Amino acid sequence: MSSDSSIKIESVLQEQRIFTPSKEIADSSRIGSFDEYQQMVDAAKTDPEGFWGNAARKELHWFQPFQKVLDWSNPPFARWFDGGKTNISFNCLDRHLGSSKADKNALIWEGEPGDVRTFTYRELHQEVCRAANALKTLGVEKGDLVALYMPMIPEAAIAMLACARIGAPHSVVFGGFSAEALRDRLIDGEAKVVITADGGFRKDKVVPLKPAVDAALADGACSTVKSVLVVKRTNQTVEFEEGRDNWWHELVSIQEADCPAESMDSEDRLFVLYTSGSTGKPKGVVHTTAGYNLWAHLTFKWIFDIKEDDVYWCTADVGWITGHSYIVYGPLSNGATTVMYEGAPRPSNPGAFWELIQKHRITIFYTAPTAIRAFMKSGRSIPDQYDMNSLRLLGTVGEPINPEAWIWYRDVIGGSRCPVVDTWWQTETGGVMISPLPGATPTKPGSATFPLPGIEADVVDMNGESVQTDEGGYLVVKNPWPGMMRTVHGNPQRFRDSYWEYLRPLDGSYIYFAGDGARRDSDGYFWIMGRVDDVINVSGHRLGSMEIESALVSHPAVSEAAVVGRPDDLKGEAIVAFVTLETGRVVNEQLIKDLRSHVGLEIGPIAKPDEIKCSDALPKTRSGKIMRRILRALAAGEEVSGDTSTLEDRSVLDKLRE
Ligand code: WTA
Repeated sequence: MSSDSSIKIESVLQEQRIFTPSKEIADSSRIGSFDEYQQMVDAAKTDPEGFWGNAARKELHWFQPFQKVLDWSNPPFARWFDGGKTNISFNCLDRHLGSSKADKNALIWEGEPGDVRTFTYRELHQEVCRAANALKTLGVEKGDLVALYMPMIPEAAIAMLACARIGAPHSVVFGGFSAEALRDRLIDGEAKVVITADGGFRKDKVVPLKPAVDAALADGACSTVKSVLVVKRTNQTVEFEEGRDNWWHELVSIQEADCPAESMDSEDRLFVLYTSGSTGKPKGVVHTTAGYNLWAHLTFKWIFDIKEDDVYWCTADVGWITGHSYIVYGPLSNGATTVMYEGAPRPSNPGAFWELIQKHRITIFYTAPTAIRAFMKSGRSIPDQYDMNSLRLLGTVGEPINPEAWIWYRDVIGGSRCPVVDTWWQTETGGVMISPLPGATPTKPGSATFPLPGIEADVVDMNGESVQTDEGGYLVVKNPWPGMMRTVHGNPQRFRDSYWEYLRPLDGSYIYFAGDGARRDSDGYFWIMGRVDDVINVSGHRLGSMEIESALVSHPAVSEAAVVGRPDDLKGEAIVAFVTLETGRVVNEQLIKDLRSHVGLEIGPIAKPDEIKCSDALPKTRSGKIMRRILRALAAGEEVSGDTSTLEDRSVLDKLRE
């Protein structure tokens, strides 16, 4: 967190519209009124352990019952469901096989070229077992970390479930990250095996993946990695290293279709997922078995009010938490049908999403505001060409949604009949924390509405005191919850410092600081205002300013760099970099191009700055801290307001203004 971060309400939204759930929707929903929601909130508040204990017993299968619901004796390190033994792969697959769900579609997948593959629960179970046995033949044992660097193909979900099945935590690295970024994550996690593909199809192009794995592993950089398992997807020629690399179709297909699910302790590590923070390198967020399973399961059930014949589609990538919780674990744990799409809307098929909804009769659609804004820009004539009458519920995630986009989504995509659930949460929270419930919560466009039962969210000041109605503040959670991250991989101190020690109320209690700013209106609705730290949210992707700065500084021409976000109509935020060059270097178009591609190589294309401004110096305080607040204002083309008296050299500001 930069010292000069300040919270301001840029424009207090004057959003007055309220959409109350229709009687028909309320009557057919599990949680069918606001009173019912309120009763759950009260029950969870009065007796949290009773509430979560009952939920865990009811919603999950246990090989051995737990003895204690919550151990919070050593905050901020929580233990949930201690003494219990379970397995999330079992909960997502095996437990459905004894019922009519066995022959129900678990996964419907469509590739960008139009190829379709479907898996019933029975078939998915067999594939997962084969993959799990293949991992065993590669020497993977309980506790070994397996990294995934995959396109959006069924094998990505199969591999995650196979890892979970044998108790090998997975670390999924988004396929859009570069070889460098992959290498950092492989080293940090001490991965033993990497699962990848030759490539994937996206926006009418072949995106190669295996070459990046080769580059990441080159020169013995990741000595812990013993094997690579490669799915053939695009049929490109790839290099194979004898003894290390294996084809998925050769190794997996010859395995037995049965592999018992390992009995895991509730607190055994389920996965590590790297995400950007305000300082240093991305942190490996650690989630554990039972608490995460319960959270993904229950939030999915509540928020999407899932029904037996729903066909649910979340457009996220499995490389992000949304893909983990709401493509794979949440839907499958509930025995739902989950749709996975390899591609994206593209000039050759701008209606790709709507075509998919029409074709597979999708009933629930969950996507990001950025996508909605892009569709809105190209107009309703494209979605209007498709029959989307199957839809009954819409969701958004990843960034604040502006009321206009919310209304457009509801009207044009949802035919004015589908409730919209704006879900606020983070990699760290494991699952959704603040969201409407479709049958219970009157919604206001642009507001994530209220916390889920059991979540005591609040908006506070620096001292952890609640702020007044409509006043901006820090979004916090005041109690532990089952899906909370347990630690930062290899760095418990960072977990403590970043999330739990930043705001310490006078009574000494621990509260979770999310990194977001928010306000509550006079009806108690939460309005999320975006990050208050140095995390930039570009199209729903989280990027740390510091990471991009380090990437820039690692280029020989750059002496110093400061990166900030600038409001962007489409992407939410755009990346603006201010750099000073080494003496003797001159700014020209080629250099700017080089710097952008350098960041692409260091992190990935999503991190390339939209704008790079070179200057002689950066605005700093007398103690040498870059004043990002000033740069943010400059990047946005705003007047630099607030106190600038701490600036070491005021002329820097004048020059930058020029
Ligand atoms: C932002 C993605 C406003 C927020 C699930 C958070 C949102 C960060 C919303 C987490 C929302 C997510 N409204 N902002 N509904 N959902 N965010 O870890 O800034 O990739 O801190 O998890 O996204 O991003 P992450």
